[in-house]
Amino acid sequence: MEKAVNILGIETSCDETAAAVVRNGTEVLANVVSSQIELHQKYGGVVPEIASRAHIEKIYPIVDQAIKQSGLNNADIDAVAIANQPGLTVALVVGITAAKTLALVWEKPLIAINHIHAHLQSAMMETTDLQLPAVALVVSGGHTSLYECENVIEPKLLGATIDDAAGEAFDKVATILNLPYPGGPSIEKAAKDGNPAAIDFPRTMLGHDSLDFSFSGIKTAVLYHCCGQDMKGRNRVDKMTQKEIADIAASFQAAVIDVLVKKTEMAADRFGAKTILLGGGVGANTLLRQELEKMTKQSGRKMLIAPKKYCTDNAVMVASLGFHKYKAGLFADMTLEAKATIDN
Ligand code: KG4
Ligand code: ZN
Repeated sequence: MEKAVNILGIETSCDETAAAVVRNGTEVLANVVSSQIELHQKYGGVVPEIASRAHIEKIYPIVDQAIKQSGLNNADIDAVAIANQPGLTVALVVGITAAKTLALVWEKPLIAINHIHAHLQSAMMETTDLQLPAVALVVSGGHTSLYECENVIEPKLLGATIDDAAGEAFDKVATILNLPYPGGPSIEKAAKDGNPAAIDFPRTMLGHDSLDFSFSGIKTAVLYHCCGQDMKGRNRVDKMTQKEIADIAASFQAAVIDVLVKKTEMAADRFGAKTILLGGGVGANTLLRQELEKMTKQSGRKMLIAPKKYCTDNAVMVASLGFHKYKAGLFADMTLEAKATIDN
C-alpha cells in the first residue's frame, strides 16, 4: 500500500485565518477557521490593515490547533501548502511567512496554491471520479470565473468578471439595503420572503457569446431603484417595509443567479462538458446550487458541488489541492511571494 500523504494547508488571503490537515487529498483530519467577520462588520467590508493584524495574532495558534486536532505530530506532515495568490497582499504575507518558517523548521517542502483554483478543488472533496471535459464556476467575494478543467492543477480560464465579482455585488447590495456584512448570507435570508419577479433587474450578458461577467450594472440598478438616479431618495431604504426589502433582495439574487447559470451552460455547451463544478463563497447560496443542479440535470451532465462548509474560505481546499501538486512534484521555494492578482 502506498504511504499516506498528509498536507498542512494554510489560508490567510482575506478575512479568515485557517489551517487544515488533509490526508491523500480528501480525508480531512483537521479543519480550523477563525473568522474576522465581527472585526470588519462595522465597516461593511474587509479593512486590509485590520485583517493583517488579526492574521498575525491568530496564525500560529490556529496552525497549532489544526495539528492537535489531526492527532498527528509535526513529523507526520509531508508538506506545507500555502495560498499565495490572489488576495490582500498584507494578509497573504502573514500566511506565507508562517508557511515558510514551518517548512524550514520541519524540513518539509513548501507548495504554492492559487486560492481560486483551491475553491475549484473544494468541489472535488467528495469524489475522485471527475469525468472530463469539465467546466467549473468559481464564485467568490473577489472573483467570478469560468474554467475548463483537464486536470485539477491547471484549470484554463475561459471567462471572468470585468468589474465586480458576484460576491462583491451581494456585499454592496446588502450595504444599500442596510443588511449586515457579509452580504451574501444576508441577502439570501432576506430574499426568502420576497418575490423574485417583483423587479426586473438587468441581466448583463456582454454579447451573446461572451463568457465574461459584469455585475456593476445590477448593483447600480439596485442603488437607483432604492435611492433614485439623483440619490435624492437616499433615506428611502430606512422607511421601506420588510416586504419591499425582501422583494429587492429576491429580484437581485434571481438576476445574478440567472446570469451565472446561463453563462455556465454556455461554457458547458461550447466545450462539451460532461461535468460541471461549483465552488467559492457564493456557491453556498441555496438557490444557485438548485438552479445549477437543475440545468445540469436537464442537460444530462454530472454536477460536483463543494459542500457548503467548504464554499467560503478555508484551508481544507488549500491542503487538498496541495496533495495533487505534491504528487506532481510541484514545489515552491523560499522566494515565494504574495500576489494580489491572479496568474490565470
Ligand atoms: O470565497 P469567499 O469566502 O472569499 C473570497 O475568496 O472572496 O467568498 C466570500 C463571498 C462574500 O462576498 C459573501 O457575501 C459571499 O461569498 N457569500 C454568499 C453566500 N455566502 C457567502 N453569497 C451568496 N449567498 C450566500 N449564501
Ligand atoms: Zn475565497
